Amino acid sequence: MKKQSKLLIASTLAASAALLVGCSTLPSSAELDKMTAEVAKASFRDQGIAKTDRLVQDAANRECMVADVSGKPLDEKLAKQIEAANLATIKWPAGGYYIGDWKQGEKIAQNGRGMTWSDKAGSANGGNCYNCHQIDKKEISYGTLGPSLYNYGKIRGVKNLYAPESAAVIQYTWGKIYNSRAYNACSQMPRAGHMGVLKEDQMKHIMALLLDPDSPVNK
Ligand code: HEC
Repeated sequence: MKKQSKLLIASTLAASAALLVGCSTLPSSAELDKMTAEVAKASFRDQGIAKTDRLVQDAANRECMVADVSGKPLDEKLAKQIEAANLATIKWPAGGYYIGDWKQGEKIAQNGRGMTWSDKAGSANGGNCYNCHQIDKKEISYGTLGPSLYNYGKIRGVKNLYAPESAAVIQYTWGKIYNSRAYNACSQMPRAGHMGVLKEDQMKHIMALLLDPDSPVNK
């Protein structure tokens, strides 16, 4: 940690202590939020491709956190607005080609590397999907924050990738991986396309892993 950040933390803590001692009332939750944000900001610095702008919450993050803390669901109208704004960010693949190679998709889904200060700008990241989802039955190590994606395409009736009746689920899956908030305002799933974690061809490989009838996920 840089000397300057240490000093900043010390002065922020001193300021909070003064607030606690000097006032008969405790700081409001807004003041506490502000102090926490200041401490967090002072605790990190830019290094390589990892910049402190990652600490800046967008409007949706803020609204979802407020709803979460209050224990009430997000206002329905606001949720719809957040979803519509996120839907508008989705870049659909050129020529309508959504499906790559499931074998490469499995490697990308397994890989949780990338986006750290030691990674080079523009280098390919992993998708980190197993961190939250079961996908191929053969992989027994996976997180459960998200639903199981085993048999994903099969359960949704994708028997032929080129059949017109497969189009809706293919498009939804692309959109969900690109920007999960387009369909769930407060989704906890990382926005792989929107945040530039995955490139278009990597997304196509993961699509194949989930949807190709030949993928082990659908056996
Ligand atoms: C930090 C956890 C997390 C990670 C990492 C994650 N997801 Fe998710 N995912 C979720 C959660 C939670 C849901 C369900 C809630 C929602 O819809 O947002 C979900 C939902 C989904 C759905 C929709 C399922 C349905 O039945 O509609 C798909 C598809 C999906 N994830 C694919 C992926 C893929 C592919 C990756 C890797 C690129 C991935 N997820 C990475 C947490 C995660």
